[in-house]
Amino acid sequence: MSDRIEDIAVAMVQPGQGILAADESTGTIKKRLESIHVPSTELNRRDYREMLFRTTDAMKDTISGVILFEETLYQKAADGTPLVDIIRAAGAIPGIKVDKGAKPLPMHEGEKITEGLDSLAERLSDYHDAGARFAKWRGVISISRDLPTPSAVRANATALARYAALCQQAGIVPIVEPEVLMDGAPGDHSIDRCAEVTEFVLNTVFDELAEARVKLEAMVLKPNMVIDGKNARKASVDEVAEKTVNVLKATVPNAVPGIAFLSGGQSDEEATAHLSAMNALGDLPWSLTFSYGRALQAAALQAWQGKRENVAAGQRAFAHRAKMNGLASQGAWAKDFEQAA
Ligand code: 13P
Repeated sequence: MSDRIEDIAVAMVQPGQGILAADESTGTIKKRLESIHVPSTELNRRDYREMLFRTTDAMKDTISGVILFEETLYQKAADGTPLVDIIRAAGAIPGIKVDKGAKPLPMHEGEKITEGLDSLAERLSDYHDAGARFAKWRGVISISRDLPTPSAVRANATALARYAALCQQAGIVPIVEPEVLMDGAPGDHSIDRCAEVTEFVLNTVFDELAEARVKLEAMVLKPNMVIDGKNARKASVDEVAEKTVNVLKATVPNAVPGIAFLSGGQSDEEATAHLSAMNALGDLPWSLTFSYGRALQAAALQAWQGKRENVAAGQRAFAHRAKMNGLASQGAWAKDFEQAA
């Protein structure tokens, strides 16, 4: 594997493959594990993630990279093998979530700013030593009739850009994730309002990336899809695909090698169907793939239930979603493939 960040970015979005987001923070993984009545201990978190990373065929065939939380980057499997080595042995690239979470933005009711820039250069150097070759930073944008404010969008875009420049300087590919929330309150916005806000957010982000001198060839964009709020869902798969691609074509420079979507609360199958429909449109200047957390893991988590005897079932569930999304990244998924499984 080349050390050039341009090559790493291209490998992350290679056709047929996508990214597994397994970087839930301690608070988020606790919620996920508690949903299956498993306490969030360090060992349970390890066992769950080890199950995913040891799904060897799926990892080899369809997962180009895995985003880790810092704890996992330094964790060892039950047999003592570093989890990072298991990921690398399956041909996937280890990555690391480096932001410190979204906190309330002062004087901006209902809006957030992502923290974590202090000492980031030092942390990136440590993460590179530990094997991470890409990173993730998520900015969160609230959407309603009155939000976001331009100043909240600008503040988040500036932080994303400084993060991205620091990553590239450290030999790490930045995943730039400005997420316009689908499932935040009130969640009753239309797909057209989402398109308008997403376009504004992406224009602001690329403006700040240019100011910060970030190399577009050596980054991956991780946006939301253009979709109705979770309490207003009605757009068809084709409408989501078309409106998302239109906004991306209007805002994302061709020099960016790839775009890897977040799933953001869509159901597993919706996230797959939308991605496949976009790729089926064809004539795209960048590759379009997945960087899903929930939409890749929900079925595996349910099948596992925290029990050793369910590891194979959990791995089958994960392998299936990975395969479906691998097909979607080539516009080749069909609903029939779900039933067949
Ligand atoms: P979801 O796919 O569950 O939205 O998570 C992806 C992610 O990494 C959000 O930061």
